[in-house]
Amino acid sequence: MSASKSLLCLATNNAHKVEELQQMLGDRFEVKTMNEAGCYDDIEETGTTFEENSKLKAVYIFDKFGFDTIADDSGLEVEALNNEPGVYSARYAGEHGNHRKNIEKLLANLQGKENRRARFRTVITFMSGGQTHTFEGVVNGRITEEQRGTGGFGYDPVFIPEGYGETFAEMPAETKNKISHRGLAVQQLLAFIKK
Ligand code: IMP
Repeated sequence: MSASKSLLCLATNNAHKVEELQQMLGDRFEVKTMNEAGCYDDIEETGTTFEENSKLKAVYIFDKFGFDTIADDSGLEVEALNNEPGVYSARYAGEHGNHRKNIEKLLANLQGKENRRARFRTVITFMSGGQTHTFEGVVNGRITEEQRGTGGFGYDPVFIPEGYGETFAEMPAETKNKISHRGLAVQQLLAFIKK
């Protein structure tokens, strides 16, 4: 590693997310997972907004380990359900990460409702030198009546982005990444970091 490389911690242990960010940032930066940066703590997402959750993760790691840190929090907001599931997207049906049950609950709650408008949101907090910087990505769309497609993850089979006829789960990953909430938030972060 050259002396001029800056170390960044991404507040996740998902190696795939780290690899993706590393590729986008290039070799001026070295991106590490929490474990690689020496953090084995389970940071509870106790916030009630995406902003709070992404900030609490970034601040925790910066305060304890001193690394510049990037943290994100995302979810689905459905208009007719008062913006539920929001920060509870991963555990909407009770069990963390059970996407099948989460989708079933969402479709059941929307049964008979005409307003299917929804949006995915991502908030990224970049904590650097003791200061926080926030970036947000939003993609508007609507919830289908039935699941369609096998790609992606989470609520992808029931979300059609505005201007498209396919769900996120039916489109190629490259198309989703260009227009997705996460993709848009990351583009803003990159523009800021590379300045
Ligand atoms: P995270 O903050 O990126 O871990 O996202 C929290 C939860 O929001 C996930 O477990 C999914 O249920 C949902 N979610 C976030 N982004 C997406 C997406 O791109 N497609 C489908 N579901 C998503």
